[in-house]
Amino acid sequence: MLKAVILIGGPQKGTRFRPLSFEVPKPLFPVAGVPMIQHHIEACAQVPGMQEILLIGFYQPDEPLTQFLETAQQEFNLPVRYLQEFAPLGTGGGLYHFRDQILAGGPEAFFVLNADVCSDFPLNAMLDAHRRQRHPFLLLGTTANRTQSLNYGCIVENPQTHEVLHYVEKPSTFISDIINCGIYLFSPEALKPLRDVFQRNQQDRQLCLALGEDSPGLWPGAGTIRLEQDVFSALAGQGQIYVYLTDGIWSQIKSAGSALYASRLYLGRYEFTHPERLAKHTPGGPQIRGNVYIHPTAKVAPSAVVASVPGGDWTWGSSKSLQGLWSMFLPTAGPQRLHWEGGDSGRGCASPGEHCPPRSHVTGAHVCSAQHRGLGEHRGALGPRGGYRQ
Ligand code: GTP
Repeated sequence: MLKAVILIGGPQKGTRFRPLSFEVPKPLFPVAGVPMIQHHIEACAQVPGMQEILLIGFYQPDEPLTQFLETAQQEFNLPVRYLQEFAPLGTGGGLYHFRDQILAGGPEAFFVLNADVCSDFPLNAMLDAHRRQRHPFLLLGTTANRTQSLNYGCIVENPQTHEVLHYVEKPSTFISDIINCGIYLFSPEALKPLRDVFQRNQQDRQLCLALGEDSPGLWPGAGTIRLEQDVFSALAGQGQIYVYLTDGIWSQIKSAGSALYASRLYLGRYEFTHPERLAKHTPGGPQIRGNVYIHPTAKVAPSAVVASVPGGDWTWGSSKSLQGLWSMFLPTAGPQRLHWEGGDSGRGCASPGEHCPPRSHVTGAHVCSAQHRGLGEHRGALGPRGGYRQ
């Protein structure tokens, strides 16, 4: 029996996602047409033996979240529950705090997924690796170039055994091109090191209090555990942490622009995983050209062209513009006024006119990314395009 935990953070997290996260909690923000964490839940639900999915965060459980949980339970026929932390407990504190709920029923292992990642979630492959050789911690890793790697948790592995020998979160100098994807498989024994960190933090705190040295800035908060620094860095090289390398799609979703990039990656997979979510060639329906379609109701300026932009990147000026851009990826998006510049090479550049002169000017259009050329170009951590800056 298996479980999965999705770390969804809370209102003070994901600040780079503002102002979009003011309207909808970041974990529910649509990426490729469905809430960000639905991709995670779909992947977990496909793992044989998955018993329960727990969302851990410090959001107040509001209407959209409650509604999402109900819908997800029905759709996937699995318990999907939200566990609210009493305060932000970091990436590991919630796992320890809710350990009894996670371990209830005796799972063989549990997945831990950061909410703000886009991936094809090779969970079954991770499980196979875990079953071949059980260790407390299995991290999904991928590769990045030297510069990009500095923005992530960096892993030095033993290439023969894949043991994590050294782990540094966002190093200031190059350590390794293998980075942490924020997707893990933990065995129940993983909670012991978390307990050690918890107890050590408590003891240190007591000591400081006794010495009169406590100050709010000194301690991040009772119960806080940073999985990356307190556990992975501390335990690297002790035979407890291993890495499973993937060359599947992966990106982080930290800013609205990177959500757009993630949408592109997921849309590229829909051809194989969810063709029903893609716009179709139908008589009188949208004309699909490359990655975009132009809805029949769209009025396209005669001078408009859809152009490929070498080394394209996403830029935007305001959330209003972004809403416009966003509709490119949502087949259900309402009429928008869009400036769009992109190509069918999969290297699109979307821009509201204020940043670079638009090549295409579409009014009242549904412009949707609809098709991709396959996954080849997305392979590798951040792909040959270098991914999206965070
Ligand atoms: P930043 O660059 O600062 O965003 O750091 P990061 O990329 O390492 O991400 P971070 O550690 O902030 O978050 C990783 C994942 O853990 C995200 O999915 C967050 O939503 C989640 N997370 C972060 N802090 C907390 C927390 O206090 N509680 C819970 N439950 N989840 C958290």
